[in-house]
Amino acid sequence: MPVYTLPELPYDYSALAPVISPEIIELHHDKHHAAYVKGANDTLEQLAEARDKESWGSINGLEKSLAFHLSGHILHSVYWQNMTGEGGGEPLAKDGVGELADAITEYFGSFAGFKAQLSKAAATTQGSGWGVLAYEPLSGRLIVEQVYDHQGNVGQGAVPILVFDAWEHAFYLQYRNQKVDFIEAMWQVVNWQDVARRYAAAKSRTDVLLLAP
Ligand SMILES: [Fe+2]
Repeated sequence: MPVYTLPELPYDYSALAPVISPEIIELHHDKHHAAYVKGANDTLEQLAEARDKESWGSINGLEKSLAFHLSGHILHSVYWQNMTGEGGGEPLAKDGVGELADAITEYFGSFAGFKAQLSKAAATTQGSGWGVLAYEPLSGRLIVEQVYDHQGNVGQGAVPILVFDAWEHAFYLQYRNQKVDFIEAMWQVVNWQDVARRYAAAKSRTDVLLLAP
């Protein structure tokens, strides 16, 4: 039995148009995300084989493969939930997401400052990567991370709650080389209810990083 499975999309392929075309959503979910799921499962099998045979010649490549594919699976699983055709705007208290709105203001100074930082982080990824809003449990802060590939350049332990996929596969069929335009358009489909739900869950869990001796 595979350890990881491809989650169903929470909407149909056309739900995010015109911001993201149905063709992109279908390929992105059914092909790209599916490949990360398969890659993570295959790598776990290869690691089990290495243990059985006590054959460690490929351990560096396998550990890198696990980090890449597993992180790709995790980030895409959050990505689909982070978007809705009825999204966008700013998180506002009247919509039941006041706690998230207050946290954004507290840790970034203003919504505009946060939006600019996440947009810039996503748009300036060199090669492939992501812009990520994450909850950092040691300090209890929200931070923005610029992720290389799916797994690099992250602070250990931080939990992604809003992710912008800046890989070319996320936009090239529709936006061509205009990554900045795609990132700007992404703000129209942010599902703030989902981001707020993730923030509340991340804050409320007992984090192993904070365990006393
Ligand atoms: Fe992607």
